Amino acid sequence: MYSETSQDLLVELDPKGRVLYLDVEGERLLCCTDTDVLGQDWFERFARPADRDASRAHYLAFVASDVDTPQAVDDILMACGVERRVLWHQVLLRDADGGVCGARLSGAFVDAADASDDNLPMLRDALKRLHELRFALDQASILAITDRRGVIIHVNDTFCAISGHDRDDLVGQTHAVVNSGHHPPEFFKQMWATIGSGRVWKGDVCNRARDGRLYWVATTIVPFVDRRGRAYQYLAIRTEITEHKETERRLAAAVDELAAANDRIVREHARMLQAEKLSSVGMLAAGVAHEINNPLAGVKACVTALRAGKVGPDRREMYFDTVVDGLERMQNIVTALLNFARPVTPSQTAVNLPDVVASCMLLASPHAHKRRVQFEQDVPETPPRAMGDRSQLMQAVMNVIINAIHASPPEAEVRVTYVEAGDQIALQVRDQGEGIPAEIIDRVCDPFFSTKPEGKGTGLGLSVTLGIIQAHGGDLKLESEPGQGTVVSLCLPRWQD
Ligand SMILES: Nc1ncnc2c1ncn2[C@@H]1O[C@H](COP(=O)(O)OP(=O)(O)O)[C@@H](O)[C@H]1O
Ligand SMILES: [Mg+2]
Repeated sequence: MYSETSQDLLVELDPKGRVLYLDVEGERLLCCTDTDVLGQDWFERFARPADRDASRAHYLAFVASDVDTPQAVDDILMACGVERRVLWHQVLLRDADGGVCGARLSGAFVDAADASDDNLPMLRDALKRLHELRFALDQASILAITDRRGVIIHVNDTFCAISGHDRDDLVGQTHAVVNSGHHPPEFFKQMWATIGSGRVWKGDVCNRARDGRLYWVATTIVPFVDRRGRAYQYLAIRTEITEHKETERRLAAAVDELAAANDRIVREHARMLQAEKLSSVGMLAAGVAHEINNPLAGVKACVTALRAGKVGPDRREMYFDTVVDGLERMQNIVTALLNFARPVTPSQTAVNLPDVVASCMLLASPHAHKRRVQFEQDVPETPPRAMGDRSQLMQAVMNVIINAIHASPPEAEVRVTYVEAGDQIALQVRDQGEGIPAEIIDRVCDPFFSTKPEGKGTGLGLSVTLGIIQAHGGDLKLESEPGQGTVVSLCLPRWQD
C-alpha cells in the first residue's frame, strides 16, 4: 500500500457518487486537480463508458448496504486518456449521527504487466489484506502519512477530529500545524534523526488543536524505506493519552502534597512530643525542688557545723560523707531531669530498661510520696535491653508511670515487670487504680483525650507514648479491670548483641 512505486489513491464520494475529496496521489494518477473534480460525478468523469452504469449501480447499492467492513471492487478507470485497472477497497463514511454520508475508496493502480491472469488473484488478496489492516488502523488510531520532508499526504478522520482541523488544512502542511511548543526543538531533532535513518520512533507528544486545546498522543512513527534504505514516507500512528497524562500529573502533585503533609506531621509530632514533655517537666519540677531541698538542708547544716569548727575530728569524716551523699543525690535528680527535658535526635542504641525506669521513679518519687504510692521494680538477673533512643523511651515510661500514680489510691503500689518473648521485650507498668472503663479504652491513646479536670491533663501522654513506641517498631497494649487496676505494656524490640 505504501510501496516505493506507490500507485495508491484515495477518493471520497457522497451518497450520489460525487467527489468530496481526492488526495494528491489521486490528482497525479488521474491527471487532474482536486478543484477540477470536486462535486463532479465520479463515474461520469472516470469510469470506462462501457462499465459506467454498472459501476454506479454497484456503488449506490454499497452505500445503501449499511455495511462497515471494507469491500473489494475491481474497476477500469480512464486516467490520463488511457484505461487503467484499479483494485478498490471502499468503506462507508458516516456523519456524527452515524448516518451514511458517502464512501471512501482507496485504490491501487495495477500495471498491465502485474495484472496477468495468474497474478491478479494474488495481488487482489494482498491488497485486500492491506486494506483491511489500514481500515483496522484507521478505526483504532490517529493516522497520518507524510512524505520524506514531513509534508502531510494523508490524515484519517480521527486525526481531523482530535486536531479540529479540516483535512484540506492539514494535507500539504507539516506537523507544525499542531505543534504546541511544549517540546524543545531538540525533541523533534532527535525524532527526525531516528526516523530519517530508517528506525521506528516512539514518544509521547503534546499537540495543540485548532481551538488552542492541548492534547497528548502516544506516537509511533514508522519510516518506509526504499531499496537504498532511504526513508521516503512516514506513517505516524497515534493514540490519545491526554487523560492519562492528566492523571499522571495529578498523581505526581498528590504525591508532592502528601510528602509536604508528611513533613508537617513529622514537625508537628516533634513539637507535640516536646510540649507534652515540658508539661510533665513542669509538673515534676515542683516535686523535684522539694526532693532537692531535703538533702540541701542536710548538706547546708553539715557545712555550717564544719565551718564553725563545732565538729570533733572523730565525727568530721561522717559529716563529709553526708555532704557527698546529699550532693550526689541532688546531682542524680538534676541529671535525670535534664536528660528528660532535653530534646535530642533519636538514636538506635542499647537501652538498659531498668535504668530508665529507675530514673523515672527517681523523678516521680516526690509525686508518689505525696500520694503515698509505693514504687517497685522486678529486675531480672540480666537487665533487659531494648533497641532505641534512651531519652524517648524515658519519656514514654515517664508518661505511663505518671498516669499510674494519678490513678492509684493512697498506699497502693505501682510495679514494673519485664516479660521477654522472642526478639521482643515487654515493659509492664501495673497499678492498683480505678482502671479504664471498657467504653473509653479504645480512645485513651487518642491525642487530647483526657478524663482529668481542666488544667490537670493534656490528653497527650498516651498518644505521645504510642507514637514513640511505634516509631521503635513496637506496640502499646492496655489491659484493665475497672476497680482492679491497669497494666500498660510497652513492647519493644530487644537489643541484639
Ligand atoms: N493507669 C491508668 N489508669 C486509669 N486510667 C488511665 C491510666 N492511664 C491513662 N488513663 C486514662 O487515659 C486518659 C489519657 O491519658 P493521657 O493520654 O496520659 O492523658 P492525661 O494523663 O493528660 O489525661 C487519662 O485521662 C485517663 O482517663
Ligand atoms: Mg498522662
